[in-house]
Amino acid sequence: MVSTIVHQLTRGLSVEEIEKSGLAPYYVDHTVGIWPQAAGGIPFNACEFQSKGDAMTDLYEDMAAEQKARSTYDNILRMVKDPDVADPIRFLRAREIVHFQRFGEALRILQDELDSKNFYAYNPSFDKPVSCPSSSNGCVENN
Ligand SMILES: [Fe+2]
Repeated sequence: MVSTIVHQLTRGLSVEEIEKSGLAPYYVDHTVGIWPQAAGGIPFNACEFQSKGDAMTDLYEDMAAEQKARSTYDNILRMVKDPDVADPIRFLRAREIVHFQRFGEALRILQDELDSKNFYAYNPSFDKPVSCPSSSNGCVENN
């Protein structure tokens, strides 16, 4: 949706309009094609997606990402008055809030399953004490 908005806003711009709007550096590299990047000019890449493979860690990361997206939309909405831009951004902002809430619910469910002594909310499946008796064929968790 954001790429579509950018495309619609830049379609048919003259070189003079591009220079006046501050898009000249972008235009030199990409014309008016869509090149996903941060507002500061850092290109989008797979590093934007974080996954640790630990449910607790990943849910906190997901929730932070949703809040960062929401606050970015807040910043855009403070600057943009065109309803053709602001209305879709408000829709995207509302989605981020719902995403944050759903991840928060998942985190709450996960935390409800933790032992009450797990004060730091680490994943209890790691670092469980294990013993591997030489007389057996494998290791067993010590509870
Ligand atoms: Fe989201």
